[in-house]
Amino acid sequence: MSDLVKIERKGGLLSLRFNRPDKKNAITKDMYLAFADALETIGPDIRVVLFSGEGGNFTSGNDLKDFLASPPTDAGDPTIRFIRALPKVQVPMVAAVQGVAVGIGTTLLLHCDLVVASTDASFALPFAKLGLVPEAASSMLVPQLFGYHRAAAMLLLGESVSAETAERYGLVTHLVQTADFSETTDRVVNKLLAMPSAALRATKKLMKAGVDATMAHMGAELEVFITRLQSPEAKEAFAAFLEKRPPDFSKF
Ligand code: COA
Repeated sequence: MSDLVKIERKGGLLSLRFNRPDKKNAITKDMYLAFADALETIGPDIRVVLFSGEGGNFTSGNDLKDFLASPPTDAGDPTIRFIRALPKVQVPMVAAVQGVAVGIGTTLLLHCDLVVASTDASFALPFAKLGLVPEAASSMLVPQLFGYHRAAAMLLLGESVSAETAERYGLVTHLVQTADFSETTDRVVNKLLAMPSAALRATKKLMKAGVDATMAHMGAELEVFITRLQSPEAKEAFAAFLEKRPPDFSKF
């Protein structure tokens, strides 16, 4: 298993932790693979899933070097397996978000049931700025949750929002001071762990009655996403980030 993630199964909790703090927990293929394997093989012993990040950040999203070197091309790719596994998880999923939550760092929250965020957290969906389109059904779920125009500011302009704003938009369920972050996360997780698990699963299933529509939208997005990854615009955006310069889209 990649040492860039920490995966623990203990007392009914499956804990999935990004562990690449020097790169703001940017996610490589190996990290997606480990998380996809863990989500796809959740057994009856698991009652709750927790996502978190090491070093004061949640994740800066997909590793842009990886996107340039080996973009996902089909459903067997670990990135796509991870994304497609999210709506299929039947137990409650909690995310504990500090620092940056970029790209999939924010879109995966749409599939979590509870999101604890510290006041220093920020959320961004810079897909269009990167020459891409949204993924993880976010082009459907973000307008549904935030409202169309707030979604447009985030998905078209790529504007990031603060934790306070994300709470107002309905993305964050528990907004806490940084000092209270770990305690609140533990409290929320332990409360779920102590509850009747079958009732939680059944309740989640009823609330997620639209899961087929979510999966269908995700599939449609991924077709475009895979094409966009190969586009000159995306290649320019990734190269510009890695070369620490502004992108130049004027030639396209
Ligand atoms: N992919 C690859 N490397 C990344 C990365 C990513 N998504 N996010 C951060 N890193 C790397 C940086 O290149 C840098 O590496 P270096 O120390 O070798 O130069 C290191 O992580 C620290 O990042 P840095 O940009 O210096 O931190 P910051 O605090 O100034 O900014 C972000 C943090 C998240 C705002 C900024 O790193 C960023 O915009 N990252 C890209 C986010 C993104 O577009 N994700 C893809 C979404 S689909």
